[in-house]
Amino acid sequence: MIIFATSDQGGTGRSVTCANIAYRRALAGNDVAYVDFDFGSPTAAAVFELAATARGVRTRGLHSFLQGRIAEPTRLDVWSLSQRAALRQGHPDRGRLCLVPGDKGGGDFPVGGIETKRCAELLLTLEEEFDVTIVDLRAGRSYALDVSLRATARPELRHVLTRWLVFHRWTRQHVLGAVDLVHGDRGILRTGVQWGHDEAGFSGRIRYVPTAVPPLDASESGSRDSEYGVWRKARDAELKAMTAQLHPHHEVLMGPVPLDPILLWQERVITDEDTIVSPGVGEQTARAFTSLAHALTDNRKWAFG
Ligand SMILES: Nc1ncnc2c1ncn2[C@@H]1O[C@H](COP(=O)(O)OP(=O)(O)OP(=O)(O)O)[C@@H](O)[C@H]1O
Ligand SMILES: [Mg+2]
Repeated sequence: MIIFATSDQGGTGRSVTCANIAYRRALAGNDVAYVDFDFGSPTAAAVFELAATARGVRTRGLHSFLQGRIAEPTRLDVWSLSQRAALRQGHPDRGRLCLVPGDKGGGDFPVGGIETKRCAELLLTLEEEFDVTIVDLRAGRSYALDVSLRATARPELRHVLTRWLVFHRWTRQHVLGAVDLVHGDRGILRTGVQWGHDEAGFSGRIRYVPTAVPPLDASESGSRDSEYGVWRKARDAELKAMTAQLHPHHEVLMGPVPLDPILLWQERVITDEDTIVSPGVGEQTARAFTSLAHALTDNRKWAFG
């Protein structure tokens, strides 16, 4: 299965959430590939704490591969290369966790037939070798989005199950932006249809993930809601009502991922050691990531109607 991760705006929590989902799937025994398609700023390695390649690899990254300069892109084994002891010392039964990085300083680039064919080749190879491939796209209507839509419409990838996660912060602007990225002009669905995807089937494979959602429970203020707590719940209900109006026919939200102080200060994978640093919140965040990771392959969550 290939998961494409996108967002309308930058800084939504897409990479941090995807890295954590990848980690949780690998802990559960799956072989996972994480593909950094943020061509303008390929920094996914930083979240896994691969310090030497935090801004991409010097040569032989995805830019070089997609542009036809090398036969295969570099793969980095997160477990052995991470500076984080908690990632290096894991359970022997965990699956592989492999990052396919971009070129350092590679920059964004336009895509045509050659890049699309190479992208399809790469996705097919990863699909055959890994249980789950997560492709972290660049935000917005990007070349990375375009090449992904073009590649997955090619005959060699039509049989592969692809699902899409659209990340957004839990605010009005972000909710509207995410919906526009999916349904608007030059958005995912219209561009997808233009390259040969079937619209009805495609929209059933898209879900939205609200990130960094402030907690609503009254735990920090005793058992009763404070005035502020009541106000927060009212704002949350407003956003939920707005989202329900935008998607009247089916459930499209997954998550949410709570606002987490560790993620706020450190963009990283949440491990057991973090749930010790920040017991209540850390555990809640770890649970949210585990449940999102599980939801990727839970067909009930993707049933339509
Ligand atoms: N659940 C969360 N709670 C608190 N902070 C978060 C959460 N998720 C992400 N963040 C923080 O928000 C910032 C942006 O996250 P991230 O880099 O994952 O976003 P992105 O959508 O991948 O951004 P870009 O478009 O720049 O690639 C980071 O500092 C990250 O640690
Ligand atoms: Mg990112």
